Amino acid sequence: MAGRSFLPVFDAEYADKLGLRSETLRKAFEILEAMDKGRYSIVETGCARKDDWYGDGQSTLLFDRFVNHWDGAVRTVDIDPLACERLRARVSGKVTISCGDSVAYLRSLLGNEELHVDLLYLDSYDLDWRNPHPAALHHLHELCAVMPLLAGGTLVMVDDTARNQAFITLKGREMVVHDFGVAGKGGYVAEFFAKIGCAPVIEGYQHGWIMP
Ligand SMILES: C[S@@+](CC[C@H](N)C(=O)[O-])C[C@H]1O[C@@H](n2cnc3c(N)ncnc32)[C@H](O)[C@@H]1O
Repeated sequence: MAGRSFLPVFDAEYADKLGLRSETLRKAFEILEAMDKGRYSIVETGCARKDDWYGDGQSTLLFDRFVNHWDGAVRTVDIDPLACERLRARVSGKVTISCGDSVAYLRSLLGNEELHVDLLYLDSYDLDWRNPHPAALHHLHELCAVMPLLAGGTLVMVDDTARNQAFITLKGREMVVHDFGVAGKGGYVAEFFAKIGCAPVIEGYQHGWIMP
C-alpha cells in the first residue's frame, strides 16, 4: 500500500509518553500496516477514560489517530457512562462509542455480517495483579463472545498482560528462579492461544496473537 507509514508519527508524538506500552503498541501498528490495507477496522473494549498516557495508554486516541492517518473505523465500548461522555469530546467522527457491558456488546457485533476486524484490543475490567482471575476471566469471555467474527489474520491484543517471573538478585546479578507464565488481564486468553498452538507476536506489558 503506497503512503507514508504511521510509525514516524508514533515515534515522534507518542512513544515517549507510553512507558511500558510503547514498544508493544508500536508493534501492533507495525503489524496492522503489514496487512497492507489502507483501511482498518479496530474494535476495543475499555475506552480512554482520562488523560493518562503512562498509566492507561490512551488506546482510543491512538487508534483514532491511526485510522485518520490511513482510513477506517474504531468501535469502542465502556460500561461507565462518564468515561464514554468524556471520550466523545476527544475523538473524531471515525470513533463509535457504545456504553454497556463489553461481552454483550461484542456478541451484538455478530449481527453485522459486513464487519471485518483487523485489531481486537481488549482492555476493560480493571486488573488487580494480586487477584487477576476476575479480569482474566472477563477478557476470556470477551474473546469467546466475538470469536465467530474473527477471521484468520485478525490481531488480538490484551493490555496489562505480562510474563511473570520470580527473580533473585545476588551480588548485583539477577537470575530467574521460576517462570509463572503469562498472567494479568490476558492470562486465560494466553492459555487459549497456547493450547491451539498459536504463539504470541507481541510480548511485553501487553500481549498479542494473530488469529490462525
Ligand atoms: C483500563 S481502562 C481502559 C483504558 C483505555 N483502553 C486506555 O488505553 O486509556 C478500563 C475501562 O474498562 C471499563 N470497564 C470495566 N468493566 C467493563 C465491562 N464489563 N464492560 C465494558 N467496559 C468495562 C472501565 O469503565 C474503564 O473505563
